[in-house]
Amino acid sequence: MNITETKNSKINNINFDKLSFGQTFTDHMFLCHFREGTWQTPEISPYKPLILDPSASVLHYGQAIFEGMKAFKDNDDQVWLFRPEENFKRLNCSAKRLQIPEFPKSYFFEGLNKLLYLDKEWIKSGQENSLYIRPFVFASQASVQASAANEYIFMIICAPVKSYYNGGEINVLIAEDYSRAANGGVGFAKAAGNYAAQFYPTSEALKKGFQQIIWTDADTHQYMEESGTMNIFFKIDDILVTSPTNDRILDGITRKSIIDLAKHQGIKVEERPIKVEEIKLAHREGTLKEIFGTGTAVVVLLINCFSHQKENYKLPNDTSLANFLKKTLMDIQYNKSEDHFNWRKTIV
Ligand code: COI
Repeated sequence: MNITETKNSKINNINFDKLSFGQTFTDHMFLCHFREGTWQTPEISPYKPLILDPSASVLHYGQAIFEGMKAFKDNDDQVWLFRPEENFKRLNCSAKRLQIPEFPKSYFFEGLNKLLYLDKEWIKSGQENSLYIRPFVFASQASVQASAANEYIFMIICAPVKSYYNGGEINVLIAEDYSRAANGGVGFAKAAGNYAAQFYPTSEALKKGFQQIIWTDADTHQYMEESGTMNIFFKIDDILVTSPTNDRILDGITRKSIIDLAKHQGIKVEERPIKVEEIKLAHREGTLKEIFGTGTAVVVLLINCFSHQKENYKLPNDTSLANFLKKTLMDIQYNKSEDHFNWRKTIV
């Protein structure tokens, strides 16, 4: 790997107490070209803009995927990653579906380790702070031919972050017309276009006071699938319910960690299709206790109110399970508690 360290660190110009999510980036970036049928020697260089041909395939056909991961610093200044192997596996699973060449594991982990080592001062300790890591791949071939490209760029960039939403709770609108994903489509992959397609419906929802949309199945709009960029959980009586993963739903790493943690605590978890009508009925009967979303960026995010067919349903003030699971997960991530599942990995 070729490494060029920055001579002008930006770190002293950053106010780490006032960070908007994903707007500030560290000093270095990792980059690797795919050309002539193979991934080339990777490099780490100072963070800088890219030069792309205007015909670069990604700009026309959106052949791009990404991952979201986080690094955490404990009170002894040791840096930890959370289940990074899962991100690597999912990256290549997304790559396969988008006809992007798989990225070598050794390059991924060597690059990630070296990058985090170089930028470790950007990771602040304390449970409010983490480093959001964004690996991504896009088609860089100069061509508007509508077929898979023969050149790609894989990169990792990093952003110091605090919480994703200020305020800690959101209101959501249940989708009645728009859909996020279809059977046989790319909903399970972290394809860039899955996110772009949400922006318009979400901005319409925002005008009505809802920060996210709960996506329902494209066929009937009767089943809840995901919320915005998160997987979604419902506490009904004492049972935690979430949709099963399938080709429309992202196999969230936070999602599966929350399921394992809940089960480990003796909480009953059901992965099954969830009807909108079931949730409305549970709300009326008082058995719906909590709704929360999970994701790398948000960790666990409480939903305060949902809306369907122009009617608003305020959730009770019980936030105990979401808060408990969030704390349990974060204590593992920040090396504050025992890691029964062996999820935490330090950098070398
Ligand atoms: C993540 O949680 O990493 C996500 O993918 C959300 C991101 C779009 C901000």
